[in-house]
Amino acid sequence: MSKRLLVRDLAQIVTVSPEASVPLRGAALRELEVVENAFVLCEGGTVAATGRMRELVGLDGEVDELDGSGLCAIPGLVDCHTHPAFLGDRVDEFALRAGGASYEELHAAGGGILSTVNASRAGTEDELGAGVRRHSEWMLRAGTTTFEGKSGYGLDRDTELASLEAVAAADGVPTWLGAHAVPPEFEDADAYLDFALAEVLPHAAELAVAADVFVEQGAFGVEQARRYLLACSEAGLALRLHGDQFNELGAVELAIELGARSIDHLEATSEHGVRALAGSEVTAVLLPASALFLDRPMPPARALAEAGAAIALATDFNPGSAFCESLPLVCSLACTQLHLGPAEALAACTVNAAHVLGLADRRGRIGPGQDADLVLLDAPDWRHLAYHLGGDLIAAVIRRGTVAWAR
Ligand code: NIG
Ligand code: FE
Repeated sequence: MSKRLLVRDLAQIVTVSPEASVPLRGAALRELEVVENAFVLCEGGTVAATGRMRELVGLDGEVDELDGSGLCAIPGLVDCHTHPAFLGDRVDEFALRAGGASYEELHAAGGGILSTVNASRAGTEDELGAGVRRHSEWMLRAGTTTFEGKSGYGLDRDTELASLEAVAAADGVPTWLGAHAVPPEFEDADAYLDFALAEVLPHAAELAVAADVFVEQGAFGVEQARRYLLACSEAGLALRLHGDQFNELGAVELAIELGARSIDHLEATSEHGVRALAGSEVTAVLLPASALFLDRPMPPARALAEAGAAIALATDFNPGSAFCESLPLVCSLACTQLHLGPAEALAACTVNAAHVLGLADRRGRIGPGQDADLVLLDAPDWRHLAYHLGGDLIAAVIRRGTVAWAR
């Protein structure tokens, strides 16, 4: 019999129903199931059963037990937007920004993303792999059991492919962010895309699940993004966009036109964009840690939720605009800055985030047949996840039925 783990005497189990249709929108985003005085039985990496303690039948054979007294179980968190494949840091830039320099000025002056490109290109594949492992370990300790990881700090063939391999090796979901910035050896964005689509895409398509592009002044325009994304779609990749971070250039319309999985950021999205997204299949991925870190306006999360858009939350973990790996902190920001409720926040960084990654059939919920990914919160009520701002409330993280981290 495969290895079993019984988490018993939990104060609460909280999850979106495994029967609910995803992505959740509108009122469904607030409909969580809460079971008190509960157990979860994991077997062979998946959940075999959950229920109230009084329904627990005697188990024959070998079972590891974990005492969940005083703890709440929530689904393992799903971070659907991170940039973990980089070397070096941008602490000097952070200090300059604290002194008044803007992120866009630093980017235009050749700092920002391109400084991380230089540092990442200068390292070895082993160093890049170690960097991704280190960052994914930080995420795990914060309760993330599934992470998406983008390339985008290589922008040459070998570093991009090594980045995707490093994300996959760390059990992440790789996204080729081949259009993140125009590297200095190319004259312009089109010349760079000629290279990236001819030389990198054929290999990236073998390694990645999705492709992503940064649509912004000083990065890629809508026409360039369309060209890049169409080629990536043709190669079998799902589509994602960084859009409306600083300027509303038409990325929302492009995402809808191309049937993208998501558009992420949206700090500059107008009412028109909100309505368009609400009537579409594209998930709006909100990144409040990035808006906070850059002291930018928050995205119109409440309006998106009210209008019926599918929303997800993610950290945007990266060295420049969001050096933050904590989805619990993002849930706090969702409640205090985006005016989402704790239930909406939890659904947005579990099942809806899994939907963005194409994994909603087995990740982001607690129920029979789902991957046994759980976070045990040291709190009497699961809403402490968002309530405890920057708190140390993760008691243990269970990934595929095994205790992956415990304090
Ligand atoms: O999602 N906006 C573009 N890319 C990243 C930031 C990258 C960086 O500053 O290194 C983001 O915010
Ligand atoms: Fe990002």
